[in-house]
Amino acid sequence: MQQLTLDRVTKHYGSKIACDRISLVLHQGVYGLLGANGAGKTTLMRMMCGVLTPTSGSIAYDGMDVSREDYRDALGYQPQEFGYYPEFSAMDFMLYIAALKGIPKPRAKEKAWELLELVSLEKESKKKIKTFSGGMKQRLGVAQSMLNDPKILILDEPTAGLDPKERIRFRNLISRLGADRIVLLSTHIVSDVEHIADTILVMKDGQLIHNGSLEEIIRTIEGKVWECVVQQEAADVLCEKYPVINLRQENQNIFLRLICEKKPCDSAVNAQAALEDLYLYYFSGVSGQ
Ligand SMILES: Nc1ncnc2c1ncn2[C@@H]1O[C@H](COP(=O)(O)OP(=O)(O)OP(=O)(O)O)[C@@H](O)[C@H]1O
Ligand SMILES: [Mg+2]
Repeated sequence: MQQLTLDRVTKHYGSKIACDRISLVLHQGVYGLLGANGAGKTTLMRMMCGVLTPTSGSIAYDGMDVSREDYRDALGYQPQEFGYYPEFSAMDFMLYIAALKGIPKPRAKEKAWELLELVSLEKESKKKIKTFSGGMKQRLGVAQSMLNDPKILILDEPTAGLDPKERIRFRNLISRLGADRIVLLSTHIVSDVEHIADTILVMKDGQLIHNGSLEEIIRTIEGKVWECVVQQEAADVLCEKYPVINLRQENQNIFLRLICEKKPCDSAVNAQAALEDLYLYYFSGVSGQ
């Protein structure tokens, strides 16, 4: 079985530690990499693509170091900042990338069509990229990353700028692609990975603080989500002290949902933990991790 193995992968930029001893094994399936701005997601992904060299540690695909030239044949990558050549049509862009990847011309054309169909852009194949919506560009980004039929697909924030309809379409596409390869996608948006990722990885300040299924990760915050009904004055105090997920006012009463290690006030009762709570817990400083 194919396997991508990271062993204590570390990256320093001067005194800044962008990735800190990350060890991880990826098999076939979809992995969602969650983390706030600056958590180290792009740095980690670029190292996994072999385009950035770790300061220390190693990354290997089936025993082959990812710095090797032939690893590129197994890899598809959609960078976070992606030049889309606005004057190119979708098809011209696909053929251009295919040429860069060394795919022979007749094969390239056939493959480009197949992929534009897969991402539902076949009708737009002749349109200039500058006329595309954000979602169309993202789908084109996935299509180009698939040109060499990669066994590993790394997508850096592929859902940025998508509207809800495009988001759903995109998720379905990723689920299909994950059936027979390793897919790793990064995002800030918890709900992007909720339905498609088999495994959720959470990064914070360069460290991998979670690696598990959604259920496993949610279990870690059980007992820390609270709901209470209070008056304005008490609400102000609670809002100041704790991350508040939801606030609703009815007459003089204020309904609060918040995150706290211990019972925050007398009227608080434990609530069922959900995904949104999870993100707030890990990225608002409550967890102390
Ligand atoms: N080339 C660089 N030189 C110096 N510092 C860098 C460089 N690239 C990234 N960093 C720093 O390393 C940390 C991790 O950055 P990275 O881009 O990997 O985070 P990220 O999780 O992808 O963030 P975002 O969600 O904003 O894309 C940040 O503090 C960033 O400022
Ligand atoms: Mg990034």
